[in-house]
Amino acid sequence: MKRIAVVTSGGDVPGLNACVRAVTRTAIHHGCEVLGVRRGYEGLIDGLFIPLTSRDVSGILRQGGTILGTARSERFITEAGQRQALAQLQRAGIDGLVVIGGNGSLKGAYQLYKLGMPLVGVPKTIDNDQYGTDIAIGVDTALNTIADAVGRIKDTATSHNRAFLIEVMGRQCGYLALASGIICGAEMVLIPEQPATMEQVAQVIVDSYRIGKAHCIIIVAEGWKPGLQALKAYLSSVPGNSRFDVREVVLGHIQRGGTPTAFDRLLATRMGVLAVESLLDGSGHGKMVALHGAQLEMVDLGEATSRTKPLSRDLLRIAELLCK
Ligand code: F6P
Repeated sequence: MKRIAVVTSGGDVPGLNACVRAVTRTAIHHGCEVLGVRRGYEGLIDGLFIPLTSRDVSGILRQGGTILGTARSERFITEAGQRQALAQLQRAGIDGLVVIGGNGSLKGAYQLYKLGMPLVGVPKTIDNDQYGTDIAIGVDTALNTIADAVGRIKDTATSHNRAFLIEVMGRQCGYLALASGIICGAEMVLIPEQPATMEQVAQVIVDSYRIGKAHCIIIVAEGWKPGLQALKAYLSSVPGNSRFDVREVVLGHIQRGGTPTAFDRLLATRMGVLAVESLLDGSGHGKMVALHGAQLEMVDLGEATSRTKPLSRDLLRIAELLCK
């Protein structure tokens, strides 16, 4: 291969730049020219390629976001969009592609591969819902950000004897809520995978004060139903609850920004290097780089994108044991 391209697609995460840097420098080391794709799959469809030199990726290792830009692309979901992207890649003389993306983007990558484009996927998502890998780029930084924020909230909650409902990201997956509940010592975790009634939540708050706690921290995953606002409304309507104040905080996109942790920098760099080397020697075509234990391995993209990653039973059990 003489010319490869790299694209970041879907929601951004800390560590994307570290990966783009590793991809660029590894490919240049092996004698390849590198092009970056602007604005994710949208840019791929529109042929927005920019040359990347070693100097262009200098100093970005610790930067959050992505220097290439990213997007959620409706057009790339269609075969017409994928074919247009393929034509743009061929027109630009690109022999191989590294796709750094979450589940939706990697599904799209697999379609592009089946249309004939040699490519390798690299998993990134703060949600940790990518099947086939223990963890993806971005998860560790997001968890650290949440831990820092919850710690601050806990300080003020304790001073005022308050209950806090803290919403963390995860539309379909409760991993961030579950893991942050455990590492922050929350009293309760509400996740889409496990039903809990609003009456149960009210009872946890009442019990927290009854046993002498000075606060009650409830971590709510974005995808938990009926949702943070409904819960807040319910709690304020329960008679006799005036003994405690309830406040809510939505952490939102703060979780997606910031400088990547040491873990994410290393993971992103290792994954970027392997993605390029397995693209160049052909062993990674149609595959995704994955972390299993401490080892990086290649897994089939079709397999990795055909299933939903289940929540760790171990973490569920620990939360049940300790979050109360
Ligand atoms: O998929 C990652 C994620 O961060 C989810 O946790 C969240 O629900 C979603 O992206 C938010 O997406 P957007 O930035 O497009 O609103």
